[in-house]
Amino acid sequence: MAKLAQVLEEIKGEHPLLEVVEEKLREEVAGGHLAARLSRNLLDGGGKRLRPILTVLAASFYPLPEGVVVDAAVAAELIHLASLVHDDIIDNAHMRRGERTINDLWGNQIAVLTGDHLFASAFSLLAALPKPAVLRRMTEAIRLMCEGEIEEILRAYQPDQREANYFRCIENKTAQLLAACCQSGALLFDAPLDQLQALGNYGLRLGCAFQIIDDILDLTAQEDELGKPVRWDFMQGNFTLPVLYARRHSPYGDELTRLLLSGQERRAGQLLDRMLREEDAILYAWQQAARQVKIAEEALRALPPHPAREHLRSLAAGLLEQGPLEEQLLAFSHYP
Ligand code: IPE
Ligand code: IPE
Ligand code: MG
Ligand code: MG
Repeated sequence: MAKLAQVLEEIKGEHPLLEVVEEKLREEVAGGHLAARLSRNLLDGGGKRLRPILTVLAASFYPLPEGVVVDAAVAAELIHLASLVHDDIIDNAHMRRGERTINDLWGNQIAVLTGDHLFASAFSLLAALPKPAVLRRMTEAIRLMCEGEIEEILRAYQPDQREANYFRCIENKTAQLLAACCQSGALLFDAPLDQLQALGNYGLRLGCAFQIIDDILDLTAQEDELGKPVRWDFMQGNFTLPVLYARRHSPYGDELTRLLLSGQERRAGQLLDRMLREEDAILYAWQQAARQVKIAEEALRALPPHPAREHLRSLAAGLLEQGPLEEQLLAFSHYP
């Protein structure tokens, strides 16, 4: 089992509240509503439950009533599910968590509404929390997530993007929600500002590392390992960090874009493989993820010593150990 999965299992073992979260999620999704039932496959298909785990872990620094922590954690996963349903429409993806996507099964119209339905269920839980600050922080994260996704669409097929743009996009589309999850407990407890900031910084850096690795795996993994399409980002014109790096350093950058834009996908894929290998672009992206993890770990220093702090540290470290690096560097070749 990959290190991240191991760490997540360990945390689940020590936080029985996560089982309550799981039951409540199931109630929310399997309840009588037609639209909710459509997301049942997505819930049952697996998923790491990273957002509820972060919410429960970070809230455990504070003596909070269990019910409010459960509701915040359930809402976090519902928001994530909603964003996945919408993201799969945007990315035109047919598989998620090893199951057919809602857009693939039912079409975009129903998928849009199913995503909205999931968002609404999340807001209903958040609105009932004793502190409105959590709802505000979560909705801010959603707003930024949309900005990140919009920016990503606007820069599709544009090869000459700066890495800074890429980092801004991933911070908005992925890391802000993780940061908001890490901050929910602190907001519910009115924790000191420095702790709120430390948790937010941890979540942002963790989230950036997480998305960089997701983007690497899109290039290096196989579809059955990921449960979602691979090479999809590149084929959809979403040039992620390894591609931007390879393109910037390789003499074949323009040729790559030309092949892709003229619909020669197979040749574009072959050239991309070669460029990624020649420029050590996957290694570079792992190094960037490691840099983010290091900053995330440093942010934890501002928090009081607590078992949750150690778990947050191992979770960040576990991100970097998802399968042997050498294997990834050598074995990715989708277009032999
Ligand atoms: C997928 O998130 C979307 C990204 C932000 C990369 P996860 O990788 O957490 O998806 P699940 O919940 O485990 O399916
Ligand atoms: C999407 O990023 C992040 C979200 C806001 C849902 P990706 O498009 O890389 O996520 P996957 O690879 O489809 O899970
Ligand atoms: Mg996607
Ligand atoms: Mg992805």
